[in-house]
Amino acid sequence: MNSAAEISKSLKSLVQEFEKALDQASLLQEVEEVRVAFLGRKGRLAEIMSSLPSLPVEERPGIGRLANEVKAELNRILDEKSRDIQNRLRHEDMSSFDHTMPGRIPDSGSFHPVTRVINDICRIFVGLGFDIVTGPEVETDFYNFEALNLPPGHPARDMQDTLYISESVVLRTHTSPLQVRTMLKARPPLAAIAPGKVYRRDSDLTHTPMFHQIEGFLVDTDVSMADLRGTLTAFAHEIFDPQVKVRFRPSFFPFTEPSAEVDISCVMCMGSGRSDQGGPCRVCKETGWVEILGCGMIDPAVFEKVGYDPEKYTGFAFGLGVERVAMLKYGIGDLRMFFENDLRFLNQFV
Ligand code: DAH
Repeated sequence: MNSAAEISKSLKSLVQEFEKALDQASLLQEVEEVRVAFLGRKGRLAEIMSSLPSLPVEERPGIGRLANEVKAELNRILDEKSRDIQNRLRHEDMSSFDHTMPGRIPDSGSFHPVTRVINDICRIFVGLGFDIVTGPEVETDFYNFEALNLPPGHPARDMQDTLYISESVVLRTHTSPLQVRTMLKARPPLAAIAPGKVYRRDSDLTHTPMFHQIEGFLVDTDVSMADLRGTLTAFAHEIFDPQVKVRFRPSFFPFTEPSAEVDISCVMCMGSGRSDQGGPCRVCKETGWVEILGCGMIDPAVFEKVGYDPEKYTGFAFGLGVERVAMLKYGIGDLRMFFENDLRFLNQFV
């Protein structure tokens, strides 16, 4: 049986023994082994304290207090040792750090080609004094058709393979409704472009059920077809190349009169109709021209729908397909590329 004096001696010498054991440890793993040997459930401290119950009751509190002090001291020494080892390891780590090694370059995102072209086109028209307007993709029959001089039963509605939400609500088939929405809110003079998604029940090699259009329109007194021609020629030179030729062909749209389609000299074959290899140019099918948009002078019937006096005001409008411009601008042969999100394709537009 151990006396109180013996126990207290063992407790005191435990501190020195602990320090000696820790001196041998140079790894955290070894420090942990020493901790278990001294402070663990079956360690030296526990072993010494196991004889406490055999002491006379009045001697126990003194020994208990001493044991707690020793325990706190052991823990303090242990923490200090662990910290020293951690600092040493960190230091060793730093000295083996090769600061000439190239850093990891984070992947950077980039704009989708469709977004790029929309931004480019907006920038050009904003530079010409146009505002940018947007509107809903779920549209009423009134804005998508009726106010644009396409009354119910009009044969031109068939051109647009409409996706119906209900009898009078559609997914907009073009961005032209923004003409109506804008004119109903503002008075001339006004000039705006409206970029956005449009939807048609059509899906094959050259059509996707969703694509992007940009509508443009300008209303004032004395606006003429020459203004339209000048504006669109300046645009084509800016977005493609100052060398491209621009031509207007008569066409038909219910919301413009007269109407035209605009072609530019083929950007692939420079209007020659022949490819680099001497064969026929696939893009313009040997004609030397490619269509880029539809346009015209706003029909007086549209002005009447929005409460503008057609005797006083004239205006022009145009609508272009963004994917089509992007294909020509970047030489992309397949429309589906835009929607497959293949990184090998998208990474080329960084
Ligand atoms: N909205 C027509 C379409 O989607 C494109 C268009 C043609 C818009 C002529 C116009 C325009 O503003 O004047 O096919």
